[in-house]
Amino acid sequence: MAKVVAGVGSSHIPALGAASDHNKQNEPYWQPVFEGFGPAREWIKDVAPDVVILIYNDHASAFSVELINTFVLGAADEYDPADEGYGPRQVPQLIGDSDFSSHLIESLVLDEFDMALANEMDVDHGCTVPLTVMFDKPDAWPCKVIPLCVNVIKYPQPTGNRCYNLGKALRKAIESYPEDIKVAVFGTGGMSHQLQGERAGLVNPEFDKNFMDKLQNDATELTKLNHTDYLRESGSEGIELIMWLIMRGALSDDAKESYRFYHVPVSNTGYGLICFDEPDAPHMQASG
Ligand code: DHB
Ligand code: FE
Repeated sequence: MAKVVAGVGSSHIPALGAASDHNKQNEPYWQPVFEGFGPAREWIKDVAPDVVILIYNDHASAFSVELINTFVLGAADEYDPADEGYGPRQVPQLIGDSDFSSHLIESLVLDEFDMALANEMDVDHGCTVPLTVMFDKPDAWPCKVIPLCVNVIKYPQPTGNRCYNLGKALRKAIESYPEDIKVAVFGTGGMSHQLQGERAGLVNPEFDKNFMDKLQNDATELTKLNHTDYLRESGSEGIELIMWLIMRGALSDDAKESYRFYHVPVSNTGYGLICFDEPDAPHMQASG
């Protein structure tokens, strides 16, 4: 049966993708950031997922304001990097798994999470930047990727609690798939940031640290944050963090933080990364 083996929370700052694409990793501004990715990149090699379910938001790249879905699950066998105005990122195409996607959609809908499904969808920086963070610059991504897209850009976004429960339903869906595959779940976005208006440039490291601190053992506390809490404490785009709660919901209560990295500033915000192991995952047995 399929197994959830690990979880990752990561910001998906577009400038990080551009820095990687233009080989700026060793410039003084970027060096400490890319250095912070190192241990996570080593760790994910051990985790060796067959499939990553990558939870992200589209930033009006694949979807316009004509169609705003709350939750969209990719159902395709491939996804191209989106053109966000300066040409698509020169990163590998994502290879999906339409059989697994079909199973996930059926399980989620029968579990009363009414997913929209995308048979064709280009993926923007929200999806491709976390792949760069974790896998650097390979000729092909080392595993299949199923994108799960969440509306966080237009009110009313789903609540954090709804997202956490979607994560739980996602775990049930994964664990009922008969193939023996290892699945990692990535939740992306955040952390605190505001890209517009009077408070543009807002970063709240204290809020970000507290969010990461609570993720392992106190995630239900985080599910109580409402839209106004996010707006007030973490700026207008901090709401992207609800996607980390889907990831956390998909892990077991026993999941353990194995790595954390936080760096301010990166572009208009801070960069946050957190990795979780499932205690009974094969890579945990191998390392004793
Ligand atoms: C920025 C953009 C994002 O979509 C995001 O999630 C974080 C930061 C930025 O432009 O800095
Ligand atoms: Fe974003």
